[in-house]
Amino acid sequence: MEPSHLWRCTVTLLLGVWSMSCMGQTTPSTQTTPTVKTTPPPTQQSNRLKFRLAGYPRKHNEGRVEVFYKGEWGTICDDDFSLFNAHVLCRQLGFVSATGWTHSAKYGKGTGKIWLDNVQCTGSETSISVCKSRGWGNSDCTHDEDAGVVCKDERLPGYVDTDNVIEHLQVDEYHIEEVRLRPVVTTAKRRLPVTEGVVEVRYKNTWAQVCDRGWTPKNSRVICGMMGFPHERKVNKNFYRLYTERQKNHFLVHSVACLGTEVHLAACPLQFNKGNSTEGSCEDGLPAVVSCIAGPLYTHNAALRKKLKVSKTVRLKGGTHAGEGRVEVMKGGVWGTVCDDRWNLQTASVVCRELGFGSAKEALTGARMGQGMGPIHMNEVQCAGTERSIWGCHFKNITEEDCQHTEDASVRCNTPYMAYEKAVRIGGGRSRYEGRVEVLQALPNGTQRWGLLCGDGWGTPEAMVVCRQLGLGYANHGLKETWYWDGSNVTDMVWSGVKCTGNEMSLSQCQRHKVFNCQKSSARFAAGVICSETASDLVLNATLVQQTTYIEDRPLHMLYCAAEEDCLSKTAAQANWPYGHRRLLRFSSQIHNVGRADFRPRLGRHSWVWHACHGHYHSMDIFTHYDLLSTNGTKMAEGHKASFCLEDSECQEGISKRYECANFGEQGITVGCWDLYRHDIDCQWIDITDVKPGNYILQVVINPNQEVSEMDYTNNAMKCSCKYDGHRIWVHSCHIGDAFSEEVERKFEKYPGQFNNQITN
Ligand SMILES: *[C@@H]1O[C@H](CO)[C@@H](O)[C@H](O)[C@H]1NC(C)=O
Ligand SMILES: *[C@@H]1O[C@H](CO)[C@@H](O)[C@H](O)[C@H]1NC(C)=O
Ligand SMILES: *[C@@H]1O[C@H](CO)[C@@H](O)[C@H](O)[C@H]1NC(C)=O
Ligand SMILES: *[C@@H]1O[C@H](CO)[C@@H](O)[C@H](O)[C@H]1NC(C)=O
Ligand SMILES: *[C@@H]1O[C@H](CO)[C@@H](O)[C@H](O)[C@H]1NC(C)=O
Ligand SMILES: *[C@@H]1O[C@H](CO)[C@@H](O)[C@H](O)[C@H]1NC(C)=O
Repeated sequence: MEPSHLWRCTVTLLLGVWSMSCMGQTTPSTQTTPTVKTTPPPTQQSNRLKFRLAGYPRKHNEGRVEVFYKGEWGTICDDDFSLFNAHVLCRQLGFVSATGWTHSAKYGKGTGKIWLDNVQCTGSETSISVCKSRGWGNSDCTHDEDAGVVCKDERLPGYVDTDNVIEHLQVDEYHIEEVRLRPVVTTAKRRLPVTEGVVEVRYKNTWAQVCDRGWTPKNSRVICGMMGFPHERKVNKNFYRLYTERQKNHFLVHSVACLGTEVHLAACPLQFNKGNSTEGSCEDGLPAVVSCIAGPLYTHNAALRKKLKVSKTVRLKGGTHAGEGRVEVMKGGVWGTVCDDRWNLQTASVVCRELGFGSAKEALTGARMGQGMGPIHMNEVQCAGTERSIWGCHFKNITEEDCQHTEDASVRCNTPYMAYEKAVRIGGGRSRYEGRVEVLQALPNGTQRWGLLCGDGWGTPEAMVVCRQLGLGYANHGLKETWYWDGSNVTDMVWSGVKCTGNEMSLSQCQRHKVFNCQKSSARFAAGVICSETASDLVLNATLVQQTTYIEDRPLHMLYCAAEEDCLSKTAAQANWPYGHRRLLRFSSQIHNVGRADFRPRLGRHSWVWHACHGHYHSMDIFTHYDLLSTNGTKMAEGHKASFCLEDSECQEGISKRYECANFGEQGITVGCWDLYRHDIDCQWIDITDVKPGNYILQVVINPNQEVSEMDYTNNAMKCSCKYDGHRIWVHSCHIGDAFSEEVERKFEKYPGQFNNQITN
């Protein structure tokens, strides 16, 4: 059987262990260089201290402390341990401080070296290595005394996640390293995902079966959850009896008693065969077989897919792929976020299953998938794990002072293995995050070959799909030429005209030419990508637009600069300059970066354009579109394409400004900061001189061409309803494009001017 047909599930239960290099240096990410650092040479690396949190059960800001020293991960003994030590370690882990520490291997025993013992810090040290201790590797402890820390869930400014290290879960003396479903029927063409098969656990490089005596649907539910499926179903046992009786079984696990709410088999009470017999014993039992029901995204049968309802009251935003993102819930027709207090795997699993995925792999706190902009609907959500929806769990309503968007909860769900990463690869770039794109093409004679993609029309949406498919995060760039990267022995172009919406899970789901047709088909012009683990996310403050919109009749003699910068509609050219005026719809724009990386213009400063009239550089040609639309979506006022100089006007508390337009400064918007264009600056308007009285929609779209990478483009449009009587304008219900339920949004678009749902931002 081909390994690719097996459904593997690497144990990542442990909230994905984040490690970072010693001392969280401020590494502002730029759009031209990915934030991923290249691996330093081995000697240098082994001398660098690294830290990570490990163990179970825990949140991302707590756990057993593990130190990487001299090329080896090890632990710290709890003798003489103190909160002062914890402060130093938490800072090294990228958190601002510690709130507590643990002893006696509270998060489970580590393995390998016990690197430090009798550590006594004063709390102000910049590294654990300068604190008093017995010295590296000198310890009389066992792993029963491994120390842990609980860090304040607040990142050091400028913190950047680096390597994501996967931890193996330890149970008893056994490591259940992986769990899989092995299908027994080997048809020639198997469709992924594998939803049914014999349960197998990997142990010491061999796969072993689980005895099915006393096996319950609750056990199946846990296995299905791990495999990325929301539900289990009954198995036809007789069908399997024949096969499984014949095969040689090794029953490593002979009893499983899950509650059904566990997120991993290893979290269920298990009994192991203690190696008495090589065969293991299951008496007259058989290997456990499990069958799961896939969610709608992974169901091939169209009729069945329709039957599987997708939740309309919860969604995930800002993740790199399906089954990952900030949790948003629907209340009163408006989407809002969930505060992370008490947020855990069990609760996150309810969300995952509700959305058609498996159980949760990680329950993330602290806006790790970016911040929302609307209301916060829930706090202290606590699910038993059996609820059908997060709305069925206990929770508290939110009051203003309870929570902020910096505490938005998010999740990574287990999703079915689809082998997406096998059909595409990248190469030739400076790191594993960039390169020319190659796809696997099936030839008529049944063989396969790798081929390049035509760069014509290639852009960010296509790059997003490639980065997603390879598990490399967000797309920083989609490149139309790649001649400056190392050559490759793959030189043939095989696909052209690839067009994606950006939401596809793999390139094969995008459109492409049926007959190859590429303008520049030399390998120099092959499509390439630069991926990044983090991205920015821009959102306009809709409340402020609503509060600041007004009409001004501005004399033409004050509009020469504006005309030069193309900020007036076409008919202005026929006006009797400098006499008369233009009617302008003015408003303030406050653009927030609520993502995880700074927003930087795509072009380097050498290609910025000096605008003498206004006396500053423009770093992006088109940064926003301002439009006045009719009910049927037609543009009624020439939407001018505003270009800007980007800077941090103001920031959230504790974050410092980094970008400034003056004096040819660096341009951009820092995470947690915003750029404000006041209603009274030139060009911050729509020229409505030619617009007749009526009901309209005012629309602002940021980064409309997706020139710069963002975590989420669905929140880039802001809309307001407008009523214009020829003299005055009334503006209300300003909201981000994805803020309302579908029903409410439909009503809004049908009746702009009349629609007046009181939406508070
Ligand atoms: C081996 O099996 C016997 C009886 O089945 C049991 O009493 C004994 O404890 C087992 N040994 C180990 C090491 O588990
Ligand atoms: C939360 O508020 C809603 C109304 O918005 C109310 O129906 C509900 O009972 C409240 N829940 C709690 C736990 O206070
Ligand atoms: C299949 O076709 C390709 C090109 O058409 C050729 O290069 C390859 O050798 C063929 N392979 C076999 C096994 O026939
Ligand atoms: C292409 O190059 C890679 C490494 O440079 C090599 O492993 C591979 O075998 C080569 N393929 C062919 C078809 O020559
Ligand atoms: C948006 O603007 C309003 C009005 O000025 C302000 O009260 C609010 O704090 C702003 N929202 C954010 C997220 O800054
Ligand atoms: C859309 O509305 C505008 C003004 O209300 C009208 O002039 C135009 O013909 C309409 N277009 C369509 C396709 O209905």
